Amino acid sequence: MTYSLAGKVALVTGASRGLGRADALALARAGADVVITDILLESENNEEVAETYGPISQVMQSAGVVYAEKTAEEIRNMGRRSMAIRMDVTDRKQVEEVFRLVKEEMGGIHILVNNAGTLDHVSQIEHQNDAFWERDLKVNLTGAYNTTKAVWPIMKEQKWGRIINMASVAGTLGGFGQASYSTTKAGILGFTKSMALEGARYNITVNAIVPGVINTEAFQMINPKMKERMIQRTAFKRPGEPEDIANAICFLASDHARYITGIELNVSGGIELFTF
Ligand SMILES: NC(=O)c1ccc[n+]([C@@H]2O[C@H](COP(=O)([O-])OP(=O)(O)OC[C@H]3O[C@@H](n4cnc5c(N)ncnc54)[C@H](O)[C@@H]3O)[C@@H](O)[C@H]2O)c1
Repeated sequence: MTYSLAGKVALVTGASRGLGRADALALARAGADVVITDILLESENNEEVAETYGPISQVMQSAGVVYAEKTAEEIRNMGRRSMAIRMDVTDRKQVEEVFRLVKEEMGGIHILVNNAGTLDHVSQIEHQNDAFWERDLKVNLTGAYNTTKAVWPIMKEQKWGRIINMASVAGTLGGFGQASYSTTKAGILGFTKSMALEGARYNITVNAIVPGVINTEAFQMINPKMKERMIQRTAFKRPGEPEDIANAICFLASDHARYITGIELNVSGGIELFTF
């Protein structure tokens, strides 16, 4: 089965590293023009931004794990159009402005990957940080709402759209010490299904990917013992690779998936299965 995303414009949120970056590269390889968006861009001074967004942003920023502009360049080298834009998904005005600009510059937005997320708030309920609870809701949940609302009229006018939301097994199974994260990821599944119902009449499909443990820079930073326990829960006894998520996204973005909407697609190596 081969498919092409030629002629389509994709926008990926949180694409400066990890899964977002892999998704952007895979969409470009499949033929799409791709807009990279993130709160961090390597050419900017991100220290203040990183501080606002918490520990993982700070670590990535100081370790130089910010590849937004580099990814856009890699995509242009493939012969596709691409640009990297600073966009905070929690800032509704900024999101509207970026989507307006992208439509003007690229001629449309056909594929939206709501990937931006926060994964660094882990503690039991009595010690949950109230500010991070609010941050997680704002980034993971309201962020996807902001971008979906901004892209909707564009996709409606095109009579073609694909929205792919990143959920997590923490949303379907729960996660110890992950009250805020799992709540947002469960919420995104309800949002996906409601949007799927609303989008069908405009030929907009809306689906969610449910990753298990995927070998990103963020995953590599987890405590080794905890990482091993997670890996042992998968049927394959290994983490997934970012390309496993990107391949699923490219399929859902293609015409081969035109009759698929409102689904939760587990790309999790069977982590939710009953293993013993
Ligand atoms: N890696 C995994 O194992 C895994 C598992 C399940 C779900 N996920 C989900 O996949 C997505 C990507 O995960 P990852 O492992 O690549 O994480 P990551 O932390 O490496 O990447 C998240 C990206 O989002 C960006 N971001 C954070 N706040 C933002 C904001 N307000 N506006 C715009 N961008 C923002 C970050 O700068 C970063 O580039 C997340 O939604 C995560 O919840 C990942």
